[in-house]
Amino acid sequence: MHDATTPHAATTPFWDKVISAFWLAFLGILGVNMVSNMVIYGEPFVPKEIHIEKFGFPIEVVAEETTGGGDAGPAKMISSLPLIAAASLDEGAAVFKKCGACHTIEAGGANKTGPNLNAIVGAEIGDHNGFKTTDSLKAIGGAWDYAKLDDYLENPKRLAPKGSMSFAGLKKAGDRAAVIKFLASNTPGAPAFPSAEAPAAAAEPAAAPAAEPKK
Ligand code: HEC
Repeated sequence: MHDATTPHAATTPFWDKVISAFWLAFLGILGVNMVSNMVIYGEPFVPKEIHIEKFGFPIEVVAEETTGGGDAGPAKMISSLPLIAAASLDEGAAVFKKCGACHTIEAGGANKTGPNLNAIVGAEIGDHNGFKTTDSLKAIGGAWDYAKLDDYLENPKRLAPKGSMSFAGLKKAGDRAAVIKFLASNTPGAPAFPSAEAPAAAAEPAAAPAAEPKK
């Protein structure tokens, strides 16, 4: 017969068997490896990842809450209003250097990143001296009285969350008092400064009703 094909036919099944045996051994080792890896390492790995995520989120939330609590300082914000009358104009001019990157102060001064701030005290909020401000800023409404300036300059994003004044704010009441006095000194006919006692006196009746019912 075609014996010539027999060795071939015989060789093929033989080598097939050898190759299959190798494959089976290889796959078997792989499989055992995978299974044992899963058993040995898989168990500790999976819970670890879950733990990381579980820990990650609460920590972030806690951190946000902590910062939020610190930022929620609007209630705790120390008013600069009683300090304005006694504040130093020189100090105000020095503090204004921080604003000077974006604002000019002299009458007719150029608008830069922010509007020229001449005559800002008592001015309508937004679009000052021809500068187009954001809707978020305009939404504050009303005029720049001392209280609104104090609030805005402490943290511009509080009154105008989507406003474009990229300035962290003046956290020290003394700095705000000084710069507000400087703004007023560059405002012809600026309103009188709040008296050093008036805000405290005004705050007391508001605090008293809240405190008295508790007693
Ligand atoms: C990084 C630039 C930058 C700095 C620094 C900066 N401002 Fe501004 N300021 C702006 C921009 C921009 C606007 C317009 C905001 C908007 O449209 O939301 C603005 C708006 C204002 C307004 C409102 C103007 C209006 O039209 O009603 C006042 C008041 C003001 N700034 C005061 C200050 C003072 C005071 C300082 C310094 C303590 C200061 N800014 C620092 C960029 C700046």
